[in-house]
Amino acid sequence: MFSLPLTLLLPLLALCPSISNARPSHPRHKDATTGVGSMMLTDMSRSDPFAKDGRPRSIMVSSFFPVSNCLQRTSIPYMPPGTGKFIDEKFGAYGLPNGTFREFTIEVCGKLSKHAQCPPGGWPLVLFSGALGTSRHLYNIMLQNVAARGYLVVSIDHPYDADIVEFTNGTIIHGVDIGSDAEIELALDARVSDIIFAQNQLRKRSVADKLFPGHLQNGRLPKVAVFGHSLGGAAAAAAMSKSTDLLGGANLDGTFFGPVVTDGLDRPFMLIGHENKTRETDPSWDAIWPHLHGWKKQYEVKETAHYSFSDLPFVAFASGIQDLLPVEVEGLLGRMNGERVMKLTTSYVVAFLDMFLKSEAEGAFQKLGKKFSEVVEVV
Ligand SMILES: *[C@@H]1O[C@H](CO)[C@@H](O)[C@H](O)[C@H]1NC(C)=O
Ligand SMILES: *[C@@H]1O[C@H](CO)[C@@H](O)[C@H](O)[C@H]1NC(C)=O
Ligand SMILES: *[C@@H]1O[C@H](CO)[C@@H](O)[C@H](O)[C@H]1NC(C)=O
Repeated sequence: MFSLPLTLLLPLLALCPSISNARPSHPRHKDATTGVGSMMLTDMSRSDPFAKDGRPRSIMVSSFFPVSNCLQRTSIPYMPPGTGKFIDEKFGAYGLPNGTFREFTIEVCGKLSKHAQCPPGGWPLVLFSGALGTSRHLYNIMLQNVAARGYLVVSIDHPYDADIVEFTNGTIIHGVDIGSDAEIELALDARVSDIIFAQNQLRKRSVADKLFPGHLQNGRLPKVAVFGHSLGGAAAAAAMSKSTDLLGGANLDGTFFGPVVTDGLDRPFMLIGHENKTRETDPSWDAIWPHLHGWKKQYEVKETAHYSFSDLPFVAFASGIQDLLPVEVEGLLGRMNGERVMKLTTSYVVAFLDMFLKSEAEGAFQKLGKKFSEVVEVV
């Protein structure tokens, strides 16, 4: 059994200051941890575009939030049982031992203190969308780490697009084949609607109280940003072009699709690519770049591959099997140590979010550049 050493990974915030009237300080607080939640959300205004039987679109979301004074920490399964079994079988093909995902645990706050509650307008909100055919649970650790730095985080599973979505009531929806341009467009549109729907649901007290107990009140949302991995990164950009509530976004290693490529964006946007994924090798990155009119940066991360920007390398590292995997797995997970790439990804994402959601200095990127020599800014 492995418990996530959150305190080793990142400095944590001790308090919940209001962003609007105070810049958060960043004291180290070794007892801090994160709370988590999950729930099903149903959009009665939209039928599911994949189910094709007129049923309303239902999604599953997870939440992660900072907890300053946790009364009791607890280890919970990394993913629900049906998902764990499915993912174990899927990654068994890459040489990961059966049970790696089913038995993996993460440490969370199991009992919140009443005094840990935040004032309205407390932490900013960040929405996350993962890769095509990839469960949202494969980003739980990354998103816990982002939350620990003072963010309310929501991750979204897009049913029929994700390889598996396990609903709270036990129903499992498996992914369908999405490959043609038309199918990708359909999936992208569904993702954008899911993202905007999830954001708006947080204005409902029943949803806010379940996902972020004590953090969101009176139907008001704090500042919001969105980021994603792979098709989720494309969805982040597309959602920003649909909703001006989304103040900034980041794309981790995803090819862009849809009108946003030529329409562009006027708010901050960051691109992070794996080794050799740049504007030179991805035409969609080259095409959107001149149309990004807000703050923008593009980074190439040496020694990484497409799934470096998920929990997979960290899970392999923490399970003690990263060095035992077949060499072909490098094409999926990259060569970098799983703990290091986890730190790298969360540090860059948090530096980006801090800059425009918490008015932190852009200088953080220079400091990170000294720490992570694998990262090359592509100008
Ligand atoms: C993995 O373990 C589960 C539970 O013991 C078992 O049902 C399943 O058949 C195993 N899968 C493989 C590929 O060995
Ligand atoms: C569980 O929830 C899903 C998604 O909303 C729904 O399609 C399904 O019918 C539900 N299953 C049961 C047994 O209620
Ligand atoms: C990236 O490109 C360089 C130069 O062409 C090459 O040596 C290297 O193997 C490539 N890396 C990957 C992961 O494809």
